[in-house]
Amino acid sequence: MKDTKVIAFSGKGGVGKTSLAALTVRLLIDAFPEARILAIDADPAVGLSTALGVVVTHTVDDVRKKFVETVEKGKKQEAITFLNEAHYEITDSIVETENFAFLAIGRPENAGCYCSVNSFLKETISALTEDFDYVVIDGEAGVEQVNRRVMEKVTHLILVSDASKKGIGVIHTIRDVAKHLGMYNQTGAIINRIKNETIKQLVDTGDIDVLNYIPEDEALSLMDVQGQCLLKLNATTPAIQGLREALIQINVI
Ligand SMILES: Nc1ncnc2c1ncn2[C@@H]1O[C@H](COP(=O)(O)OP(=O)(O)OP(=O)(O)O)[C@@H](O)[C@H]1O
Ligand SMILES: [Mg+2]
Repeated sequence: MKDTKVIAFSGKGGVGKTSLAALTVRLLIDAFPEARILAIDADPAVGLSTALGVVVTHTVDDVRKKFVETVEKGKKQEAITFLNEAHYEITDSIVETENFAFLAIGRPENAGCYCSVNSFLKETISALTEDFDYVVIDGEAGVEQVNRRVMEKVTHLILVSDASKKGIGVIHTIRDVAKHLGMYNQTGAIINRIKNETIKQLVDTGDIDVLNYIPEDEALSLMDVQGQCLLKLNATTPAIQGLREALIQINVI
């Protein structure tokens, strides 16, 4: 099996998962220009595409919906053909850019009893990741996604939080669930949007290692306000510098 690094960002809502995932893609492109990189937007709200300047036309969920409709119409033969072609269908959802590929999941598992289809799609995505050297996943807020396991195997689970007790609580829950599921090889926290040294000193992540603290970065906020692609962010900004150090800590770059 190929040694693909699968890096997932997880944490409370609004703490910077999407921004850091996008900037990770950028740092990977800089560090390994020859590598095959896949960015996966696993948040149904779809934010990573904007951060990476990608236009999404369809998602994995569209593939799933098409299948479910076929089954519900009782077209068994078509459904079988469809499953055989799922790999192709999903590959077809991938947007290729000059430096990386992009896949949006949409809603990975709605309520309903199509578990076999869901796990089949999950397997298909896992198989597909073997075509890449690096996979960066921008997760949905909270622990649900870890529970649902969009991917069977994350190698590097990056827990993102702000300085709040609530944010730290959420990363503990996520870490515990992920650990229980044996989901990752390496993990650690990035404490993002630190406003000053006093706040930094007060943050207590308990038994979770802090990979780095990233300060509030005005240049990053500004790009977000303007809806600009984060790949263009100046490499000397504190957010990129801080993230680079964190990714080195956890052996991603
Ligand atoms: N270090 C930082 N400095 C300044 N602003 C930041 C920083 N990190 C993130 N932000 C800003 O915080 C906001 C939320 O960031 P982002 O969308 O990346 O979070 P998220 O965790 O993906 O949120 P959601 O849970 O809603 O998907 C954005 O406006 C982003 O520009
Ligand atoms: Mg997000």
